[in-house]
Amino acid sequence: MKTKIYRYILCGLFAVTALNYASAQTKADNAIDAQINSIIQKLTLEEKINMLHASGVFTAGGCKRLDIPVLKTDDGPLGVREEVKEGWGSANLTTDSATFFPNGSALAATWNPELAYRYGHDMGEEARARNITVMLAPAFNICRNPLCGRTYEYYSEDPFLNAKLAVQSVQGIQSQHVAACVKHFAVNNQEINRGSVSVDISERALREIYLPAFKASIIEGNAWTIMSAYNKIRDVYCSENDYLLNKILKGEWGFKGIVISDWGGVHSTVAAAKNGLDLEMGSNPPYNTYYFADKLLDSVKAGKVSVKLIDDKARRILWVQLHTNMSQNQPEGKMSTPDHGQTAYAIASESIVLLKNEKNLLPLNTSDIKSIAVIGDNATRTFHLGGFGAGVKARYEITALAGLQNRLGKTIDIKYAQGYTGDYKAHGQVNSPSHGPDTALIAQAVATAKSTDVAILFIGGNRDFESESRDRKDLSLPFGEQTLVDAVTAANPNTIVVVVGGAPYDIGQIKKNNSTIVWSWYNGSENGNALADVLIGKINPSGKMPFTFPADLKDSPSEALNAYPGENLKVDYKEGILVGYRWFDTKKIEPLYCFGYGLSYTDYNYSDLATNQKSYKASDVITTTIKVKNTGKYAGKETVQLYVSKDGSAVERADKELKAFTKVNIPAGETASVTLSIPVKDLAYYNEKSNSWVVEPGKYKLLAGKSSRDIAQSGTITVE
Ligand code: BGC
Repeated sequence: MKTKIYRYILCGLFAVTALNYASAQTKADNAIDAQINSIIQKLTLEEKINMLHASGVFTAGGCKRLDIPVLKTDDGPLGVREEVKEGWGSANLTTDSATFFPNGSALAATWNPELAYRYGHDMGEEARARNITVMLAPAFNICRNPLCGRTYEYYSEDPFLNAKLAVQSVQGIQSQHVAACVKHFAVNNQEINRGSVSVDISERALREIYLPAFKASIIEGNAWTIMSAYNKIRDVYCSENDYLLNKILKGEWGFKGIVISDWGGVHSTVAAAKNGLDLEMGSNPPYNTYYFADKLLDSVKAGKVSVKLIDDKARRILWVQLHTNMSQNQPEGKMSTPDHGQTAYAIASESIVLLKNEKNLLPLNTSDIKSIAVIGDNATRTFHLGGFGAGVKARYEITALAGLQNRLGKTIDIKYAQGYTGDYKAHGQVNSPSHGPDTALIAQAVATAKSTDVAILFIGGNRDFESESRDRKDLSLPFGEQTLVDAVTAANPNTIVVVVGGAPYDIGQIKKNNSTIVWSWYNGSENGNALADVLIGKINPSGKMPFTFPADLKDSPSEALNAYPGENLKVDYKEGILVGYRWFDTKKIEPLYCFGYGLSYTDYNYSDLATNQKSYKASDVITTTIKVKNTGKYAGKETVQLYVSKDGSAVERADKELKAFTKVNIPAGETASVTLSIPVKDLAYYNEKSNSWVVEPGKYKLLAGKSSRDIAQSGTITVE
């Protein structure tokens, strides 16, 4: 009885607090609306239009007369970009070096939303210190074809993992009163012809695969700005796409913030203004010639665009500014603090994926090993800059070689050989592996490997090779790396291959011939320290692949269906909803490494999958519990993945879809009880006839696994 009374009191208290919070929130919202109304009344039409287009490479608007500050944007997503002059040249400041955070697919490989929040939070703090209003991040277009040059910037091929990370990144950035700008809206899945290609896509694929992370980042993450993509959807540029911007984003999702164009991605005045774009950005002056400058003013004067519409855009900008650079209680920004370095380290160390460890060469037996050959250009290369597009002037970046020297340099003789040259000059829109093996460098590497106990090879891509505005020609390893790997492996059987990249590569031959393979990324300021700690076992690897590695590029859905990069500037997304593992699993094609794959120095045993009910209503939540035992000698973090499969559906279904995951820390020998929740409404498919989400009644299989192809436990539930 007593507990019941306490419970009532507690519920009452919660209700009162929630009410208080809601009314405080409404008051704050009302105050902001009143402020916006008062400013709008004072602004002239010219001043309002001045807020709607670029005034510099990264700046727009402002109104000195009314104390409205300039809206300052900056890239993202690798960290806060350095200050640039007109024409993109460096401003050559000494005050704008920043923390280099691991790239998007690295963050996704952590499968850890808490780290996504920390990433956003710390980058937001640095943006605040630089007085930036809008961070042009996070970027999370779906990895549709592994060749896409921006795969390294994006997260995943899976909409669920994508959405979980996007929401946290946004909330982290915005906790610092800096607006996130989620990009690129939408279906910017290739760089070839990105400025002109038109994507033909089914409504179902759009809703189920390509939009969920955007929707979640607006509705759950409350992102204050969004960037329209360069490409067209169904023949209409994204920057003037009524369906995408007005109907879906501002209508269905109730977006209150700013639609910002990608740089130079606007093609009209009246259509863009009417169809949802709010702010036109671009790189080059004269800025009064922009579509949203003098031409917009003329269009208003000619009655083609209403003042009401201009007011709506100015209001949106003021609304964002009142939450950011005009807000009352902006936190103090901080640049490159040790805490930010710790975040970069945490992400890097949880992102590294152990692909193969057949001979247990890892973790390195540092008490027996006297000498190590560190081989490869990627051991000494940094990744904060390179290629076309956003980078960071890193305050520091620890290379792989420096990391190993930091950890082992005092006790182990470390010898370095370059092995290959990773210099790369791009040509056109396609990057193909440039020069081949360098026999002199390989001979040196072989000699070094022969003279040491262990050889660690650092190969893969680099930031010049994987780049914005270009796709790769194929998945082959560049710079003659395969020949180097073969030669070094023949010279020293204790060879460990570390592949560094932000996207899938063809490492089939290495998988076949080599015993020990580690995958690493463009892993931020603490790259080398994190990598060394994984190699010596201070960190037990826990990264899992955020996308499928095809055994052959031709197996990838858009390649198999000849649906990339399109013809006559049109690309038909023929694979529909079957993107990534959804395709491979449904078509029963064996990949090289599947979605969600990643080993550990320990092993985990899954048991006792149970659900809280057998049968559910549409409004219920399916609570699944499962026991995971760490059966090895090392403590470790395991990402438990829960997929759902629907047999006998009225529509085409993927073999399975990720619907929940969680990462747990399990001490050696112990068992964790893991709980995973799936709201039944998340089982819905998008019905193109009714234009609505439909949960089909019937049986669903729950599949819990270590990866999409290593399902350890399963169960069945019924939806009424
Ligand atoms: C990219 C955007 C970026 C913008 C500004 C464009 O080329 O697509 O992602 O934010 O440039 O640098």
